[in-house]
Amino acid sequence: MKNAKYNVLCVCLGNICRSPTAEVILQQTAQRARLNVWVDSAGTSNYHPNKAPDPRSQKYAIQYGYDLSALRARQITLEDFAKFNLILAMDHDNLCHLKDLQAEFKRLYPNQNAAEVALMSEHDTAYLKQPVPDPYYGEAKDFERVIAQCESSSAAWVKYWQNTHSVE
Ligand code: 4NP
Repeated sequence: MKNAKYNVLCVCLGNICRSPTAEVILQQTAQRARLNVWVDSAGTSNYHPNKAPDPRSQKYAIQYGYDLSALRARQITLEDFAKFNLILAMDHDNLCHLKDLQAEFKRLYPNQNAAEVALMSEHDTAYLKQPVPDPYYGEAKDFERVIAQCESSSAAWVKYWQNTHSVE
C-alpha cells in the first residue's frame, strides 16, 4: 500500500477493460488537481489473473494519453475493504457484488473501518448513476465510450472531493 491519504479502487468484472481504464484516468485527473489520491483496480471475477489490459483498451487509451501497459489484472479480496477508502463499481452488477463483500467484511471485522462503495458515475451529471457499458464484445466506439465516460466521471469525483473537502 502506498503512503497516500485517500485510496480508491476501481472495479469491473474482468479488470482488463473498464477498471484499468478508470484507474489511470482517475489517477491522472486527481493528480492534475493535486489531490492526494492513490488509485488501483481489480475485478469481481478471476477470469484474467495477471493479464495486461485488453489490447483494444490499451490501443484506444494511449490515443488519449493514458498508458495502461504496466497494469495487471487481479481479483478483489476482502482485504481491499480495509486498504481502500472508496471502492467504485463500473456497473450495477459489480455494485451488488461489492455490497455483498462489504457486508461480509463488516460481519467478520466489526471493529474495522470498511471502504465505502459507490458507482463510478455516482456524481457525474452527464451519466448520472449509469453503468460504464462493458466493451468486451463490442467495437471501437464502445472502447471510446469507456474513455469518455471515465473522463467525465473522474472529473465529477475530483469536483466532489474538492467541494466536500474529503480529500486535500
Ligand atoms: P471488463 O470487461 O469487466 O471491463 O474488464 C470484461 C472482460 C472480460 C470478460 C468480460 C468483461 N470476460 O467475460 O472474460
